[in-house]
Amino acid sequence: MLIRCPCTVQAFAWTDGQPSPGFDRFASSIAKLDIELSPKEAYACRRPEDPSTCRKGDQRLSRRITHKRPPKVKLTDLRGILQYIPRFRDKVFVISLDGAVVEGENIGNLLLDIALLRSLNIQPVILHGAALQIARSASEKGFQPSDTCGHGITDADTLQVAIQASHRVTHTLLQGLSGADLKAAVTNAIVAHPKGILKGVDHLFTGKVERVDHGLLETLIKEGIVPIIQPLGYDGEGRTFRVNSDAVALAVAKALKAAKLIFITAQDGLMFDGELIREMAVNNLDERLRQQRDLFDEESLSKALHAAEACRWHVPRAHIINGSIDEGLLAEVFSNEGIGTLIYANEYQQIRPAKKKDVATLFAMTRASVAKEELLRRTRASIEKHISDYYIFETDHHPIGCVALHRYEDHKSGELAFLYVNPSHENEGIGKKLIQFVEEKATKLQLEQLFLLSTQAYAYFQSQGGYLEGTVEHLPESRRALYEQSGRKSKILYKPLG
Ligand SMILES: CC(C)(COP(=O)(O)OP(=O)(O)OC[C@H]1O[C@@H](n2cnc3c(N)ncnc32)[C@H](O)[C@@H]1OP(=O)(O)O)[C@@H](O)C(=O)NCCC(=O)NCCS
Repeated sequence: MLIRCPCTVQAFAWTDGQPSPGFDRFASSIAKLDIELSPKEAYACRRPEDPSTCRKGDQRLSRRITHKRPPKVKLTDLRGILQYIPRFRDKVFVISLDGAVVEGENIGNLLLDIALLRSLNIQPVILHGAALQIARSASEKGFQPSDTCGHGITDADTLQVAIQASHRVTHTLLQGLSGADLKAAVTNAIVAHPKGILKGVDHLFTGKVERVDHGLLETLIKEGIVPIIQPLGYDGEGRTFRVNSDAVALAVAKALKAAKLIFITAQDGLMFDGELIREMAVNNLDERLRQQRDLFDEESLSKALHAAEACRWHVPRAHIINGSIDEGLLAEVFSNEGIGTLIYANEYQQIRPAKKKDVATLFAMTRASVAKEELLRRTRASIEKHISDYYIFETDHHPIGCVALHRYEDHKSGELAFLYVNPSHENEGIGKKLIQFVEEKATKLQLEQLFLLSTQAYAYFQSQGGYLEGTVEHLPESRRALYEQSGRKSKILYKPLG
C-alpha cells in the first residue's frame, strides 16, 4: 500500500505492516501532537502539525489534529501577519548569522523562514560570522589562531584559516538556500583597509570596513538574488582582510537603509546583569553602555554596541535572537511578544482609535480574559456598533492593549471599560497610560465623572488609578438596569474629574 501525502511532499510504502524508511520520523512528529494514527490515517506532510498544509487531503486527519491541539498558526495570527506585508514590502532585512548558528540543528528551518520572508517581498541580505569554525580549523591544523572574531591581530596563518572557514560556512548557507529554492550569490561588497597599528601593535590582516558596495548589493536584490556577505573585506589592491561580522552587519544595514538588522546568535538576546533585555529604546541602551558597560557579557556587549549604532544611523529596529529556536525568526518579526531583544530607534507606542477592521483583533486579543471573566463578554456586533468608543494601544504597530470610553451624556459621566493589557507587556505601566488617556478624553468631553465596573481588578484601579468604591447611585439610570441584570456583582468604582 502506498500512503501519499496530499501535499505530495512525501510518500511511504507500507508492506506487510512495515513502513518504509522515513516513516518513523514522520510518526514521531505526529506523536508530539498527542494523537494516535492508524497507518491508513498516516498522511505525511512537511509540517504535519499545521493542518492547513493538509487541507486538500485527508480532512479527517486535519480535523483530528485541530481538535487535539490548536494549530500553531491561527486565522487571527495570519491576519496579524498580513498586516505587516504592506509595511515590509521591498524593505531590506539584514540578517547576521553567528558561525555557531550556521552549524546548529535549526539552520535548515532558519533558511526556510528566510525564504518565507523573501516570498512576502521582504529583501533579506545574509551575512555570517566564522569564529567557531576558525578556532576549530586552527586546532585541527595544530596551531593557536592569533584571533577568531576579527577584533584582534590576524596573522597570515590565521587569515588563511579564516578564508577557508568562511568559505565553508558560506557553502552551508548556499546549500540550504538552494534547498529552499532561493537564488543567492556570494559577494565582495565589503571594501576594507587594514585596521593598522593601534597602541604600537600592528593588527596585520585585521581589516576595518571602509565602505559597502551598495550598488552591487542593490543589483542582486533587484534581480531577486539574496546577497551573502562573508566576514572578509577586500581592498583595491586585491588584498583580503578579516573583518568582524557585527561591524559588517552594521555597515551593510546602514548602507542599504535596512528596515531591520537581525542578529541571530547562540544567546537568547542581550544579557545585562544576567537578565534578558526584552526591548529597549536606543537612548536607554546608550545610557547603560555609557554607565554600566561592565554588566553586559562579552557577546552581548558587541551586539549592543552595534545595535545601538545601527539605530542611531536610522535603522529603525535591531533584533538579537537565539538561532536555535524553531520559528524564532518569524515569531520575532511577526508577533507582539518577539522571542529575543528588540532595540528601537524611536518612541513607537501609541494609543489610537479603533476602526471597524480592528473588531476581530479586539475580539481575539481579549478572548482569554473574557473566558476568565475578567472582562465582560461582548459580541462582535456590539463592539462594531460602538467602535468609536474603543481605543487600541500599539507597540511598534502591534496591538497589545485596549480600552473603551462609553459616554452617558444625560449623566455627564463616562464608563471606563474593556481595559486590557496583553500579559506579555504586563507591569510596564501600559494599563495606567490607558486609564490616563481615557481620563483626559473624558475631561475634554466635559464629563464630570468616570465610573467602572470590575470583578477582579478593582484593587488595581484603587491603588494605581485613585478610584473610589461607589454604589449604584454612581451609575447613570440607563446603566443600573444592565448592572442588575448581569448578575456579575461587580464592584462599582468612580472618580470625579476636573
Ligand atoms: C489589570 C491590567 C489592565 C493591568 O495592566 P498593566 O499594564 O499590567 O498594569 P500597570 O503596569 O499599569 O500597573 C502595574 C501595577 O498594578 C498591579 N496590578 C496589576 N493587576 C492588578 C490587579 N488585578 N489587582 C491589583 N493590582 C494589580 C501590579 O502588581 C503592579 O503593581 P506595582 O506597580 O506596585 O508593581 C491587566 O493586568 C489586565 O489586562 N488584566 C486583565 C483584564 C482586566 O482585569 N481588566 C480590568 C477590567 S475592569
